[in-house]
Amino acid sequence: MRVIVIGLGVQGVKRQQIAGSDCVATVDPVNPKAQFKTIQDVPVHSYDAVLVCTPDDPKYNVIRYALANKKHVLVEKPLWCATAAQLEELAHLAQANNVAFYTAYNHRFEPHFMRMKQLLDSGVLGHIYQCRLFYGNGTARLVRDSAWRDSGSGVLADLGSHLLDTLHYWFGTKITQHNFSIISKSNFENCAPDHVIFADFDSKLKIEAEMTLLSWRNHFTCDIFAENGSAHISSLCKWGPSSFIYRQRVLPSGRPVETETTLTQSDPTWALEYEYFMSLCAQSKPEIDFSVNHWIYTELERMASEELLLA
Ligand SMILES: NC(=O)c1ccc[n+]([C@@H]2O[C@H](COP(=O)([O-])OP(=O)(O)OC[C@H]3O[C@@H](n4cnc5c(N)ncnc54)[C@H](O)[C@@H]3O)[C@@H](O)[C@H]2O)c1
Repeated sequence: MRVIVIGLGVQGVKRQQIAGSDCVATVDPVNPKAQFKTIQDVPVHSYDAVLVCTPDDPKYNVIRYALANKKHVLVEKPLWCATAAQLEELAHLAQANNVAFYTAYNHRFEPHFMRMKQLLDSGVLGHIYQCRLFYGNGTARLVRDSAWRDSGSGVLADLGSHLLDTLHYWFGTKITQHNFSIISKSNFENCAPDHVIFADFDSKLKIEAEMTLLSWRNHFTCDIFAENGSAHISSLCKWGPSSFIYRQRVLPSGRPVETETTLTQSDPTWALEYEYFMSLCAQSKPEIDFSVNHWIYTELERMASEELLLA
């Protein structure tokens, strides 16, 4: 598979390294290390797939060009368009041209996220009462200084898209019945929100998700409390060590039986995700599940307008 990387910034360089010798060209209008300035400049028969690592605004035009030319597409989260109709148009184009179209939410390949999914799918936790997520990094200043990042709904679209995707990955389509609202929104240092909490406390499964750019040590936590026990993630491999704790409830009350798995390893998600994308490209009819993208897009749009109302 011959791939090209569009957008040779932080993420593009990472994708280029993972693709290794598969990468036959790079495109960036600003970075002098890129061979081409626009995707249209790259000879169309010289590649099979496109890794889109641009800011959100150019994504639609770049993806549309690639799909129209029957190229497989991996796009960095979030998949962003000006309208939901454009999103649908891209999905139809991918289907019509029988190519893979995948939005990269790399945390699905985080070992403890996969462990959590297995535990939830097994049903041993019984009724799930509550899920609390925290995703924080200390990039407020970098975001403020970036040419494109400190805009729109800020950390909500940036980290909130990851959290929505994670919730969908763990809880499946029933999560789409939830009605999330913004509980708190702050602009501590930036023009766009740099701290947001959204939640749904009215459903049977209570969910609270907090995201911030002001956590000077990058961190992720998840706490799930359920009828028969609880499960907890602390940190990600890239910021490790990261731990997964499963606690089995003791009745009527008492110290639970605890199993802890701690990982000290480099981030495996990028290589695993690339492998997954390659497997999609190899399918004779690549499966395109667009419902998650559509749900994340509409949820973010809805919450962003709610957030503006609160401004
Ligand atoms: N999954 C993750 O953990 C993760 C982490 C960081 C960023 N991202 C996502 O990756 C994407 C890029 O983020 P980044 O941090 O690499 O941004 P960045 O600003 O570092 O890089 C973007 C690059 O795209 C180039 N570019 C702009 N318009 C272009 C166009 N039309 N064609 C080709 N290149 C163009 C810019 O010149 C820049 O070099 C965003 O969607 C972001 O949300 C994901």
